[in-house]
Amino acid sequence: MKRIAAIIVAFTLIAASPAAFHWPLPQGVAPPAIPPDNPISDAKIALGRRLFYDADLSVDGTMACATCHEQRRGFADGNVTHAGVHGDPGRRNVPGLANVAWRRSLTWGDPRVTTLEQQVAIPLTGRFPVEMGMAGKEPELRRRLGRDSCYRTMFRAAFPETRGRIDQASVAKALAAFQRTFVSFSAPIDHGDAPAAGAAIFAAKCATCHAGHDFTDDQFHRLRQATSSDRGLGEVTGRIGDDGAFRTPSLRNVSVTGPWLHDGSATTLDQALMAHPNADTADTPALIAFLAALTDNAFLTNPGLSYPDSICRL
Ligand code: HEC
Ligand code: HEC
Repeated sequence: MKRIAAIIVAFTLIAASPAAFHWPLPQGVAPPAIPPDNPISDAKIALGRRLFYDADLSVDGTMACATCHEQRRGFADGNVTHAGVHGDPGRRNVPGLANVAWRRSLTWGDPRVTTLEQQVAIPLTGRFPVEMGMAGKEPELRRRLGRDSCYRTMFRAAFPETRGRIDQASVAKALAAFQRTFVSFSAPIDHGDAPAAGAAIFAAKCATCHAGHDFTDDQFHRLRQATSSDRGLGEVTGRIGDDGAFRTPSLRNVSVTGPWLHDGSATTLDQALMAHPNADTADTPALIAFLAALTDNAFLTNPGLSYPDSICRL
C-alpha cells in the first residue's frame, strides 16, 4: 500500500510540473533565483533558443542576439564594440554570458537591471544605443512570429497559461529561460586543475573582487579615472563618486571573451590586468596561465546552446 501511495505522490508531482528543468550543477552551487512568474520549462528553453538565434527580432532582419553573443567566444564577440542595425556604434564591449543567471545585476553599469527578463528590452528596443531597433514595433514583432505555425505551436507549449500569447513579454521570458541554461562549471578549475602559482597570486590579489564561483562580487568598482563618454555607475546614480565605476566582470571563459574591459580598450589580457591599480608585471604570466584554466570547452561547444539544428523543435 505504502509503495502505491508513494507512486501516486510521485506521479502527481511529475504531472504538476510537466518539464521540471534539471540544473547540471556541481556540489555546493545552488540553482539561480528565478522570478516566480517565469518558471523554467523545457518548452520555454527550446523557444528561447530559437528566438536567441532569430534575426527577425531586429527591425531589418539582420541581427539576432547571437550576432553579438557568440557561443564559441563564451557568448561575447571579438569586437571592441558592436554597432547596432542603424550603424550606431556600440557604447560598450559585449560581455560573455556564462552563468549569467547568477548575476545580481546585469550590464556593466546599471544595478537596476536585476532580471534577464528585464534586460531583453535593452537590445530589443533600447535607443541609447540602438541595437536591434524594435522600439515601438511590438505589433510587427507579433506579426512576424505569429505568421509562423511552428512558433505558434512553440509559444503554446511554453505559455499554456495564456494559450501561447505572442508579445514582447513572452519573448523576453523565453529568452531569459534559455539564457539561464548557460551553465559553465566544467573548466579545469572546476576539477581542481589550475596552475598553483597563478592560483596563489589570484587568491591574494584578485579574489576580493573576483570572488565566488563566477569570480565576481557583483559589485561596482572604479579601476581608472572616468571618461566623459561613459560615467558607468555614476550615469545611473547621478553621484560623482560613482563615476567610472563598473561591475566586476565574471572571469569564466575570460581567455576567449576579448577584447576586454567595459569599453573593449584592452586588446590583450595583459593590458586588462595592467588597467588595475597596483598591477605588477611580474605576476602577469602566472595570472594569465591561471585564467586559462577558467575556459570551459564543454560549455563553448555545448550542442544544447548552439544554433538549433532543427528550428522547429517541439
Ligand atoms: C549589437 C550587439 C548586441 C546585440 C544584438 C545583443 N546584445 Fe546583449 N549585450 C551587448 C552589449 C554591448 C552589452 C553590455 C551593455 C552594457 O553594459 O551597457 C550586452 C549585455 C547583455 C547582457 C548582460 C550580461 C551581463 O553580464 O550583465 C545580457 C543578458 C544580454 N546582453 C543578452 C542579450 C539578448 C537576450 C539579446 C537579444 C534579444 C542581446 N543581448 C542582443 C550587445 C548586444
Ligand atoms: C577592486 C576590485 C578588483 C580587483 C582587486 C581586481 N579586479 Fe579585475 N576587474 C575589476 C573591475 C571593476 C573590472 C572591469 C573594469 C572596467 O571594465 O573598466 C575588472 C576587469 C578585469 C578583467 C577584464 C575582464 C573582462 O571581461 O573584460 C580581467 C581579466 C581581470 N579584471 C582580472 C583581474 C585579476 C587577475 C586581478 C588580480 C591581479 C584583478 N582583476 C583584481 C575589479 C577588480
